Amino acid sequence: MCETMRTLEWDYQKNNFKMIDQRLLPGEFKVNHYDTHQEIAQAITDMVVRGAPAIGATAAFGIALAAKNSSATDFDSFNADLLEAGNLLKAARPTAVNLAWAVDRMLEELENKHLLIPELKNNFLQKAQQIADEDVEINKRMAEHGAALIQPGETIIHHCNTGSLATVDWGTALGVIHTAHDQGKNIHVLVDETRPRLQGARLTAWELEQYGIPYDLISDNAAGYFLQGGKANRVFVGADRVSANGDTANKIGTYMLALAAKDNQVPFYVVAPSSTIDLRVTNGDQIPIEERSGEEVLNIQRDGNPLSPENASARNPAFDITPNRFITGIVTEFGVIAPPYEINIPKMIERET
Ligand code: MRU
Repeated sequence: MCETMRTLEWDYQKNNFKMIDQRLLPGEFKVNHYDTHQEIAQAITDMVVRGAPAIGATAAFGIALAAKNSSATDFDSFNADLLEAGNLLKAARPTAVNLAWAVDRMLEELENKHLLIPELKNNFLQKAQQIADEDVEINKRMAEHGAALIQPGETIIHHCNTGSLATVDWGTALGVIHTAHDQGKNIHVLVDETRPRLQGARLTAWELEQYGIPYDLISDNAAGYFLQGGKANRVFVGADRVSANGDTANKIGTYMLALAAKDNQVPFYVVAPSSTIDLRVTNGDQIPIEERSGEEVLNIQRDGNPLSPENASARNPAFDITPNRFITGIVTEFGVIAPPYEINIPKMIERET
């Protein structure tokens, strides 16, 4: 992300957790430090950190903090402290399965009942560090698989922010774009704004500037225009949860983008690590969709004035479901999965994990 730090990491000098405050970008680059899992849960809800893999890794460090802070002297009390912390962290945001995945993976450490509590505390921090390190390595592998799909000179539409900021480092869909750029493919990115929180305009545009990747910002409703008549060659998006049949929950607006891509025969790819695939969920109808405060929609201003009447009310679903029939391929760390997803996703997970 930047030369000195990842989006989120353990501060081994201060012995606490630190991460970039993404609410302030691109205006201000600020790093916040966290000492408790309760603060971490609140930061996830408030979207100091966001993006499915990033909130998963953050929650892992949240569990490490809960372990560090536990005053329990016997295993049962320590176990209870950690389970309580896990429940709080899991509830911070409901759609991205990476959050629950990371917490559950951390809590597997509690199976080591024979260890002393100081040893367990140390293991929790090591495990969180391992989850974070793996995320970067997995992103790099996905990026290689995805970049192979891109031809030189292509224009690519990207939704939301799926870059280093949405992960520990490198990114999912934006990681693919970053790698294709580094391979000299001379690509151009159309960055949609991603209302209402503007992750595209604020975060993806900021990242692309850091990497020197040429882009144009477009309003969300301009994507259909660019998809018509070959003005865009490919769409890459990330995912918050992929069900066993390939239906994909991702940032609100992804579904409309997929519809327009399908109508224009433009390939539409989802880039997601296997930790984003939830085999317990058979189709997209079963994925919980977070609805955030309408204030996020109403707070948008123009020339310092509110856009809408004073008493306007708003709905704000944060994600939507793209049905599997609109998805050309799902890029994972194990390779690109092609349809039929209901067969090929479980097959790939069984083969690789
Ligand atoms: O609400 P956000 O900003 O957390 O939503 C992020 C997205 O929808 C991303 O596309 C998704 O998490 C994949 S990011 C690697």
